[in-house]
Amino acid sequence: MKIAMVGSGYVGLVSGACFADFGHDVVCIDKDQSKIDRLHEGVMPIYEPGLDALVQSNVAAGRLSFTTDLAEGIAGAQAIFIAVGTPSRRGDGHADLSFVHAVAREVGENLANDAVVVTKSTVPVGTGDEVERIIAETGCNHRVAVVSNPEFLREGAAIGDFKRPDRIVIGTDDEFGRDVMREVYRPLFLNESPILFVSRRSAELIKYAANAFLATKITFINEMADLCEKVGANVQDVSRGIGMDNRIGPKFLHAGPGYGGSCFPKDTLALLKTAEDYDSPVRIIEAVVKTNDSRKRAMGRKVIDALGGMEAARGKKVALLGLTFKPNTDDMRDSPAIAIAQALGDAGVKVAGYDPEGMTQAAPLMPDVQMCKSPYEAIDGADAIAIVTEWDAFRALDLERVKALANSPVMVDLRNIYKPDHMQAAGFIYVSVGRG
Ligand code: UDX
Repeated sequence: MKIAMVGSGYVGLVSGACFADFGHDVVCIDKDQSKIDRLHEGVMPIYEPGLDALVQSNVAAGRLSFTTDLAEGIAGAQAIFIAVGTPSRRGDGHADLSFVHAVAREVGENLANDAVVVTKSTVPVGTGDEVERIIAETGCNHRVAVVSNPEFLREGAAIGDFKRPDRIVIGTDDEFGRDVMREVYRPLFLNESPILFVSRRSAELIKYAANAFLATKITFINEMADLCEKVGANVQDVSRGIGMDNRIGPKFLHAGPGYGGSCFPKDTLALLKTAEDYDSPVRIIEAVVKTNDSRKRAMGRKVIDALGGMEAARGKKVALLGLTFKPNTDDMRDSPAIAIAQALGDAGVKVAGYDPEGMTQAAPLMPDVQMCKSPYEAIDGADAIAIVTEWDAFRALDLERVKALANSPVMVDLRNIYKPDHMQAAGFIYVSVGRG
């Protein structure tokens, strides 16, 4: 089957490469000429483990190609995916659908055969109706079914998530749409991955509801962690104890500095806007958004407390280890490290930062942070070390070297990657999250 993927960003490129790997003939389309040029040269626009090799092998096999020309790219495609960005609109938090609408129009104007148009971008409920209306408005006289097929890929684990999904959600009431989507996902059908056929609006809402639920789970355990610190309990034991209940489940119960990334912050805000538009408030998500926002800066205060409070902290130096919002990505979007660095800077603390993959992205977002070439360069002369992202490289720090380089052996481990008794025995003043 020929598939066109409009938008070759994170979701489009990963999905396109995986569909090609299933054996489909895939064209990835993007307006950004330099991105397409680089892809032709085998240079990935994002860091994602395994993507490089997957793209190269499928290009070599002749199943994956790239173009800036939408009309050429969609010619003969039975499934046309829309995988363009839906950023938060400046000012009101609504998802900005201008890219989605523009693609719908261009597809309608250029379509030369019957096709299923699939929204993969995360879009608010009702966007499928709008895409359908826009395509009809162009006077397109081919048969078109508009289907919602949200993605649930995690950065850093996207290829595995795509090939071994917990479920595939397909939203359509149209028989043609269902048939084409069955063919698109045939290898996963054969693999017995659960496929859920629902209405288009339900599919659109499932994506937001899933992300909002996961964001709630994280925020819940983060607040439990704060409570653990006050009452002298251990949040990791609490997580384990509640997670063993099948109704709760063990995942997304790691306390930390608050969630960030390209999805949770944006999608929770967009869900709030939809709820407001339909006059059906989701107060629990309002609380999650506020609690998570204030948590990030609060983590800066936690580091300041470890330095001995506001007065003592002024003029001191902190090494921030891990700047991206999570490991195995170079993505800095809404990373807690940004708010933490700001809170430290506002308190007159000097910050040195290091990240295994995110330095280029981080530098312009954290102009006052001295960017270092290694964790040890950042730690040199530091009065405290704060681990903000749980990169594997930080699990294996040479603790003797760390102690020798640091001005003071204070470690604030915001991801609980070390054991408190081990760190104390190693001579550190060790602070972590929710282990009172
Ligand atoms: C998320 C969803 O998991 C994915 O299904 C969706 O398609 C996109 O959004 P992603 O943003 O890549 O994926 O990262 P994820 O691994 O879910 O982590 C999100 C944030 O939550 C990170 O900041 C992470 O550090 C934080 N987190 C996650 C926790 O603090 N604790 C946890 O237990 C899990």
